[in-house]
Amino acid sequence: MALTALHIGDLHFWKITFNPMHYLGKRLLGNSNLILRRARKFQKHLAGELIERIGALDPDYILFSGDFTTTALRCEFEQAIAAIKPLADRFPGRVLAVPGNHDRYTRRDIRRLTFEGHFGAHRPGETWPFFLQLEQGFWLIGIDGGTSNGLQAYGRLKATDLAAIRSWWDGLAEKPRRLAVLCHFPAEDPAGVLKHDRGPQFHDSRPLLDFLAETAVPAFYLHGHHHHRWLYGSPTVPNLTYLNAGAPMLRREGKRPDLGFLELRTEGEAIELAVHYQDMRTLEWSRKRVEAPRGGAYLNLQNGPEVQDADGGIA
Ligand SMILES: [Fe+2]
Ligand SMILES: [Fe+2]
Repeated sequence: MALTALHIGDLHFWKITFNPMHYLGKRLLGNSNLILRRARKFQKHLAGELIERIGALDPDYILFSGDFTTTALRCEFEQAIAAIKPLADRFPGRVLAVPGNHDRYTRRDIRRLTFEGHFGAHRPGETWPFFLQLEQGFWLIGIDGGTSNGLQAYGRLKATDLAAIRSWWDGLAEKPRRLAVLCHFPAEDPAGVLKHDRGPQFHDSRPLLDFLAETAVPAFYLHGHHHHRWLYGSPTVPNLTYLNAGAPMLRREGKRPDLGFLELRTEGEAIELAVHYQDMRTLEWSRKRVEAPRGGAYLNLQNGPEVQDADGGIA
């Protein structure tokens, strides 16, 4: 039995709006910033190529770790849904998604469940966190880490979510032999890597790490948020590896984005990690196998200059 899951990071569809009702509070700041930065940096017209490549690999699962939008506007969600529609049609029930902070942009977006209104079909069941058995003994936990403090955005693990995870685990007659967590925010960041390090951005997440350590099974934490692809061995949980899928459509230093994403493949007891990316000049696609780094070690998987672009806040 083999399983292939592809992990795609921050897409950040954007739309510059001129509706004054959209220009209130945080969204005004976000849109001003967007006009200056995002429109130049996120090459959304390349989404079709990315989605086509993902489909061509015929994966078992396609896992999106959030930040589909920039300011959680309906038109941005509609662009994202339209972009992934070929995958949703072809792989029903196998395209899964969690929200990022930009999909929960304002308190109103959280209250009105704007994300769920558009992406509800990409969550098994009706509640967070979700639990899905990808294959015999391999479970995926989907966590909504998105919250808003009104101006800046960060993540927070709710105590009720942690309780749900523990209760789910305790109720399983047969314990998993491996786990994957899908959550926009990482619970730990590699030291000295982030350009604008704002400190830990997934608040109250330590108990989740304690839980994963207690399970003692190989665990993979699939996240985005920091717009730079990497693997990172948890310095505190020996059985945990972080997979940061980065931002596939983000242009770096004027260069065409490489549309990269990650792959997690299992075959029996073996687990293989790989990165996919497009050559910026020839547009040829490559798949490169990568080794999970040991605890505390960081593996840069981003082609081009080593500039780590931190997401968060209104950026
Ligand atoms: Fe992001
Ligand atoms: Fe983010």
